[in-house]
Amino acid sequence: MSGQVISISGATVRIDLPGLKVGDRVLVGVQRLPGEVVRLHGAQAIVQVFEENRGLGVGEPVRDGGGPLKVVLGPGLLGQVFDGLQRPLPELRRLDGAFMRRGSDPFPLDLARRWTFRPGLAAGAAVAPGDLLGTVREGHLDHPIFARESGEVAWLAAGELPLAAPVARLAGGGELPLWQAWPVRRPRPSRGKQVPARPLVTGQRALDLLFPLFKGGVAIIPGGFGTGKTVLEQSIAKYADVDVVVYVGCGERGNEMAGLLDEFASLEDPRSGRPLMERTIVVANTSNMPVAARESSIFTAVSMAEYYRDLGLDVLFLADSLSRWAEALREISAALEEMPGEDGYPTYLGSKLAAFIERAGVVETAAGGTGSLSMILAVSPPGADFSEPVTQACLRVAGAFYQLDTRLAHRRHFPAINWTQSYSQHADPAAVCFDGDHPGWGEQRRRLRELLQREDELREVAEVVGMEGLQERDRLLMRTAERLRLEFLCQNSFTADAYSAPAATLQRLAAILVEHDRIGAALDSGLTYSEALAREVCDAPR
Ligand SMILES: Nc1ncnc2c1ncn2[C@@H]1O[C@H](COP(=O)(O)OP(=O)(O)OP(=O)(O)O)[C@@H](O)[C@H]1O
Ligand SMILES: [Mg+2]
Repeated sequence: MSGQVISISGATVRIDLPGLKVGDRVLVGVQRLPGEVVRLHGAQAIVQVFEENRGLGVGEPVRDGGGPLKVVLGPGLLGQVFDGLQRPLPELRRLDGAFMRRGSDPFPLDLARRWTFRPGLAAGAAVAPGDLLGTVREGHLDHPIFARESGEVAWLAAGELPLAAPVARLAGGGELPLWQAWPVRRPRPSRGKQVPARPLVTGQRALDLLFPLFKGGVAIIPGGFGTGKTVLEQSIAKYADVDVVVYVGCGERGNEMAGLLDEFASLEDPRSGRPLMERTIVVANTSNMPVAARESSIFTAVSMAEYYRDLGLDVLFLADSLSRWAEALREISAALEEMPGEDGYPTYLGSKLAAFIERAGVVETAAGGTGSLSMILAVSPPGADFSEPVTQACLRVAGAFYQLDTRLAHRRHFPAINWTQSYSQHADPAAVCFDGDHPGWGEQRRRLRELLQREDELREVAEVVGMEGLQERDRLLMRTAERLRLEFLCQNSFTADAYSAPAATLQRLAAILVEHDRIGAALDSGLTYSEALAREVCDAPR
């Protein structure tokens, strides 16, 4: 069906096209710019256009885009780089060169790419949604293909077939392809949520030891300008012990995104030894790309993440930064002349964020397996003011909060995670899990926290009386705490220390604490602080 443009106000366009529903996709103008219906007035609709609409005129044709905004799901998503509307950027480059042509709309997956299908059942079998038809090999994993309809399998493919070909035919004629389309704004269904119980190993000592997260949990990383959000998100993307990583660069600098792609292309996954990009999907909607598509980018990305979760995998969703997404929401809301809430953000910011974050969790999949979707989301509060609406709205729904500290970042203490302000709802139960695999974990963690807390209290005293004025035991404590900060909590992402396996984390901590105990014992035996320290330097086992 087609209609026409009635009026244009910025990226918001009024069209005359009956039969549309809110959320439907439309193609606007002769350039077929993609847009989404955000409001209806009788037969007229208000459309948010996802691309720069310069040159669009009143009276230009508008076409129905065939239902809601959808994402294509199937084998071949891993290793891809998409924009916020799931357009494959390498393919766009091949078609249009380095600069995207407006209205370009290639299919997200390569339909001609051939996959080797290994059937998991025989023709004649009865299937229901969630039953395994077979698998294809996608990079490092066996990608299961599930039935999405009920019926009797009349024919099943085997061997090599292109993505476009059907994989099974049901009695009665229904064909099941390897891929499917899914409305981005609708969470994918599951048989129900489970309680998260397996820790997510990030390879960051400060996080794994002090503020661990369970798989299926949600953490936010709020931090002021230059405090290390991007570096931390990217380090976690490289080393987290998950099967699939979906990384969304949302409104951040394009060169950082290019750097990430370059780096990931040459790096290996430390666990499987395979190229890191093989387990990664990147959604790039950088600051120089259209703002409206930024709003939809996190939904596009989270739908892909849910798809891999539904295959029974552990998926990690990383977004940098959610604040830029909220700003896009604010811009769109202002263009629609909605009543503004705090700081100009729409009044539904909190509920929209909560609905998005709710898509994380551990689920029982339709196939009866378990899949998890964890989220680690960077937030950039202006002026590092954590009381601003986006940080506060995230805080209400996230289970963990890794606050990056501007003072620590200025001192080049990276990752600049403030150990007194940060928090994880899963910290204690996750520490118990780590303790099972690495005996002593819980006890060493308790001692680390105690020492850091005591240092905090003593620092004020030391500022008044000077280090020499402290009691000998306290001088030792200050020395150990400094070592803990510099040698344990600091972790340079640009050296071999970028990843610390849990066993190495524990070993490093234990070494510092053992020295602390040795000097403490020397003090107990009557030595002065200087003598005990001198003896440590001479006698310490090397
Ligand atoms: N873990 C780390 N190891 C070493 N250096 C780091 C680390 N984290 C941050 N840095 C240093 O801090 C700089 C700024 O970090 P980053 O770009 O991640 O900050 P940001 O919070 O994302 O900033 P912005 O608010 O501008 O997005 C980096 O270029 C790097 O030099
Ligand atoms: Mg950044």
